[in-house]
Parts: sequence; C-alpha cells; structure tokens
Amino acid sequence: MLDHLDLLLSQAARNIEAAASTDALREAEVHYLGRKGELTQALRGLGSLSAEERPLVGKRANEVRAEMEALLAARKEALSAREEETRRCRNALDVTLPGKRLRHGRRHPLTRALDEIKRIFTGLGFEVVQGPEIETDYYGFQALNYPPDHPAADEAMSFFLKDGVLLRSQTSTVQVRTMEKREPPVRIIAPGRCYRYEAVDATHSHSFTQVEGLFVDEGVSMADLKGTLTLFAREMFGPGVQVRFRPDYFPFVEPGAEIAASCAICKGAGCRVCKMSGWLELGGAGMVHPNVLRNVGYDPEKYTGYAFGMGIERMPMIRYGIEDMRLFTENDIRFLEQF
Ligand code: DAH
Repeated sequence: MLDHLDLLLSQAARNIEAAASTDALREAEVHYLGRKGELTQALRGLGSLSAEERPLVGKRANEVRAEMEALLAARKEALSAREEETRRCRNALDVTLPGKRLRHGRRHPLTRALDEIKRIFTGLGFEVVQGPEIETDYYGFQALNYPPDHPAADEAMSFFLKDGVLLRSQTSTVQVRTMEKREPPVRIIAPGRCYRYEAVDATHSHSFTQVEGLFVDEGVSMADLKGTLTLFAREMFGPGVQVRFRPDYFPFVEPGAEIAASCAICKGAGCRVCKMSGWLELGGAGMVHPNVLRNVGYDPEKYTGYAFGMGIERMPMIRYGIEDMRLFTENDIRFLEQF
C-alpha cells in the first residue's frame, strides 16, 4: 500500500511537470486528487488494513496529497506566468517598427487664394455673393451694355448650351443679378468659375476663376476704386506693391481701366514672371456705366459705382511661381502636396 502511494506520487510528479498548459494541469489534478481520483481510489483499501498499518498508511497518504498539491501549485504558477507572457506578446506594440506617415489634406492653392481674397474684401465691408454659372444672353451681355453684335457674345468665344443660354464667360453677370434684387448701397464681391471657348495651354484654359467686385452708392468715385484696389493688392502681394491704372474699354464701365500691380517677384525691375515689364495685369475695372444702372432700375443721376473683375489663377501663379495653369485642374497629388 505504501509502495503504491509512492508510485502514485512519482507518476503525478511526472505528469504535473509534463503539463503544457493550465488546462492540462487541471486534468492532472482531477486525475490524482479528484473525488474519483487515484488517491481516493487507493484509500478505499484502508479499511482492510490492520490497526497498526492503518495510521501509517493514512499519514503517508496525507503527505502524498500535500506534496501533490504543492507540485500542482508550483506548476500552476509557472504555467500561468508563461501564458500571461504570451498573451502580452501577442498584443504587444513593437516600438522599433518604422512609423506610418499620416497624409493630411490640404486646401487647393486656388481655394487658398479665394479664401484670402474673401478675407481681405469682407474686412473692407464687402459681402460675398454667388451667381449661376449657366446664364442667359441678357445677363451675360445685354444688361451689361454689350451691343447686340459684340464678338464676345459670339459662338466663337463662349460655350452656348442652346440659343440664348450659355456658360458665363465673366462674373460681371453677377453685378446685374445682385443689383436687380437690392437697393443701393450695394457692396459685394462675387467669386466663381467662368468658361470661354479657348484653346488650352500653359496660360489659357476653357474654365477659370474670377472675382467680381461692385460698389454702388451716392458719391462713389474713381478715387474709391483706386484706394480699395491698392489696399487689396498690398494685402495680397505685400506692402511695397504699386498699383497701375491704365485706360481700357469694357462695355459696362465708363471710364474703364486695366489694373496692374508692380511685380511682386522682381519688385518692378523686370523678370521672367512679369515678362520683363515690371508689371502684372490683375484684371479690369471702371465706373459702372449709366446704362447698366438704368437696366437694373437705379437712377444714374443719384447713384454712381465702381466695378472690377480679376482673374484668380494669376495670384497663386505669381505667389508660388507656378508656370502652368493646367496644374490647378490635373489633381496631381505631388503638385497639391506642396501647398
Ligand atoms: N469682366 C471682365 C473680363 O472678364 C473684367 C472686368 C473689367 C470686370 C471691368 C469689371 C470691370 O467689373 O469693371 O475681362
């Protein structure tokens, strides 16, 4: 009987040592110490022993049980430590791995220029308004004082969708639409896309962006126009910028002017960007023609106003030295990522 107990203990010791997981260990525990386990089975024979033998065997059985329990506890601790370790490793973060680059979005250079323009003009009291890109012949030309046979209203220059309906070729259309709806004073800018029947190259596109400006009130003069646009150019291109106004013709203004700013790159000395002239053309401007005021029901004897229209693409082209305006619409991530 005592030999059998020793045999059980050595078997149990081997099994416990061999248990590769806490689950296997639990099986070994049940096998030796469970209610129907080996030790309990062995002690069934206790009753048939003599009075001298019984206490000896009983004592040894208790020792064997205690030893088995100690072995189980030790093995359990080792196994759960190891299992915990593998679990930790599986979830581990390897801080030595190279990181992933986070690509963040950027505003398109044209959007940035537009945001800047809006910031400057709203700071001067202008409101930002919108107009439709699909226009009628009336808003596109007639209301703007174009004579009926003007070449700009020709199919060779504008995209007509059908007779009398076209994609706007200038944001000046928004002048009329806005004045029709309001009474003076009107002080607005209208940024937006325009379309012209134009062959695409580095400096021309069939679609481009303009910003229109309009201020109508009593006593508005050409001096107000010059002051406002000079301030705008200095905010946009830098405090040292000069602004030049030269006579020009547009049907909807009288007098009309071409606006240019001294080249922000060479400071007027002449460079590749300004084609050695020292000046960069920004757009057109002038005093709103009395016929246009009459067309929207304003009294030209009482009200005067100025208007201007500038191309937006030029501004980031000058600022960042972009030489091809096709880059704005190609959506090449390598180009866009630079801004
Ligand atoms: N609409 C003209 C163009 O696209 C630019 C322009 C000139 C706008 C004179 C104006 C202006 O408001 O007064 O070429």
